[in-house]
Amino acid sequence: METVILPTAEEVGEMAARVVADVVRRKPTAVIGLATGSSPLGIYTSLQARVERGELDFSRVRAFALDEYVGLAASHPESYHSVIDRTVTRPLGMDRALVHVPDGTAPDLAAACRHYEHMIEDAGGVDVQILGIGANGHIGFNEPTSSLASRTRIKTLTPRTREDNARFFGSLDKVPTHCLTQGLGTIMRARQAVLVAQGAGKATAIAAAVEGPVSAMCPASVLQFHEHATIVIDDDAAAGLKLASYYKHTFASKPGWQRV
Ligand code: GLP
Repeated sequence: METVILPTAEEVGEMAARVVADVVRRKPTAVIGLATGSSPLGIYTSLQARVERGELDFSRVRAFALDEYVGLAASHPESYHSVIDRTVTRPLGMDRALVHVPDGTAPDLAAACRHYEHMIEDAGGVDVQILGIGANGHIGFNEPTSSLASRTRIKTLTPRTREDNARFFGSLDKVPTHCLTQGLGTIMRARQAVLVAQGAGKATAIAAAVEGPVSAMCPASVLQFHEHATIVIDDDAAAGLKLASYYKHTFASKPGWQRV
């Protein structure tokens, strides 16, 4: 696991976008894993700038979102169908037919989860997975004590996550109680993962994910077992890391060709 600490949130987005851009440049039909939440927005903005400058083409890129709320119509402005469309598909000029989000309104949710796993497999797996992290260490919607081997399934949101996401819904009672999420086992199959975090509110979760024991209590810590995971964070999110100066030294000492 490589941890890259940068001075500002803008630089975090820029660096993580570079990782994704490199994959798409090498493979114009790449499969990318999309995260929602505010953390990855800088990545999408930075990728959009590259598309607008004509440096990058997402028209053949395929994508799978990590998660979706249960019971929210795709047309609801806060459904992840809508959020992904608004923040990723349209800005990057992607083909809607190639962008997938779990179906949280399916009559048979368990079957929808199995179908989602099959679709990812049929696409050849995810080339690069973008991740944010919840304040309790969740990735996707894999809340603490999620099985480290889990696959796409229905989960109950913790009160903490519902409170954190209430800002998008206006009030807590409007936040759905359940979701469909790719499992930690699903995420671990991505060939590459890049997790971004900004701000002091993520410092505890980042410390647990990077330096804590691998534990279902901090779902993101499973990335310690990933063969190509990069954690890109700003100084505030790095505040709880014991070895922060070591990570900075390692990154600064790298020859350019080896960076991320
Ligand atoms: C949400 C999403 C996660 C996201 C996390 C953090 O609930 N399901 O994919 O990483 O919570 O959100 P934010 O980036 O807004 O802090």
